[in-house]
Amino acid sequence: APSDPGLVERARAAKEKLGDKVFVLGHHYQRDEVIEFADVTGDSFKLAREAAARPDAEYIVFCGVHFMAESADILTSDRQQVVLPDLAAGCSMADMATAEQVAECWDVLTEAGVADVTVPVSYMNSSADIKAFTGRHGGTICTSSNAKRALEWAFGQDASGDRDRDRDHARAKVLFLPDQHLGRNTAVRDMGMSLDDCVVYNPHKPNGGLTPEQLRDARMILWRGHCSVHGRFSLESVEDVRARIPGVNVLVHPECKHEVVAAADQVGSTEHIIQALDAAPAGSKWAIGTELNLVRRLANRYADQDKEIVFLDRTVCFCSTMNRIDLPHLVWALESLAEGRVVNRIEVDAETEKFAKLALERMLALP
Ligand code: 13P
Ligand code: SF4
Repeated sequence: APSDPGLVERARAAKEKLGDKVFVLGHHYQRDEVIEFADVTGDSFKLAREAAARPDAEYIVFCGVHFMAESADILTSDRQQVVLPDLAAGCSMADMATAEQVAECWDVLTEAGVADVTVPVSYMNSSADIKAFTGRHGGTICTSSNAKRALEWAFGQDASGDRDRDRDHARAKVLFLPDQHLGRNTAVRDMGMSLDDCVVYNPHKPNGGLTPEQLRDARMILWRGHCSVHGRFSLESVEDVRARIPGVNVLVHPECKHEVVAAADQVGSTEHIIQALDAAPAGSKWAIGTELNLVRRLANRYADQDKEIVFLDRTVCFCSTMNRIDLPHLVWALESLAEGRVVNRIEVDAETEKFAKLALERMLALP
């Protein structure tokens, strides 16, 4: 539906009044009505870098979800204030790993005698607490666009795959949090590991549901978390679209299940998906396995260039928490700031920030 013209005008006026004081970041899964007001759009990695690169903006309005706003707060100076237009915009995947559960997991690894040879690698889609745990234990954050480089770093390999013995941070095992699919897909697709190198730690079972032998044999200990949006795509979705659209290219996000990724033609972050479609020749056909706001926007953008872009599944799947940020919430946040009232500020406490920042800075320094 077209946006309410009154709200569009109010958003414009509030942004104009704020001028350079405000910088609006928009994740690719945001609604069109919100993306329209973003100064920069991006995947999680690009937005983290953009937040860190705006020291002059007094306010960062983050149109995305809670963990992204937390990361922006960690990476910006104390003087800057980060605002999330709706505090209910969380992420169900990030909620699947709590600080208590992860501390308990580390105890299990210690008990099994493997904690010393394990380095945590945590997906950006995690709370600041989990990022701080990661930093404290010598690990790094990764996003879907640099997960391969993060694993190479963790295992002490250089780009050629050789072991680099000078890297004293390197370990034999990785504890990958909290998305089992990104962890497994990266290990198998990009690192040449086998599915048997991976075990899944279930925080709801005693000892994660794993024996000490399983923990000792594994190279990747995957946290049992997933994205419910990407979890909807199945092998049948891929087979179905290939039957319906001959010659279709299937391009999916690495948060999809391993069998979906294995059956796809290409895999990548949201930014990668956009670049791939931008470079695609006229007449090509694409089925995209990621959130629907982005797929619809791309389908509309390239419709007149004769690129056929369809959603991978027959049912619709928006990320309901990304969708919480709508034009009324954005207008409210901007108008409040323009009146000098900071609403919905996201602020990570100093102790958590110190270690979470270490882990995020390791990611930003990855080659
Ligand atoms: P990227 O934008 O980094 O690909 O991440 C997708 C996602 O699920 C963000 O929540
Ligand atoms: Fe979280 Fe999935 Fe939504 Fe991304 S798409 S914010 S991982 S629930």
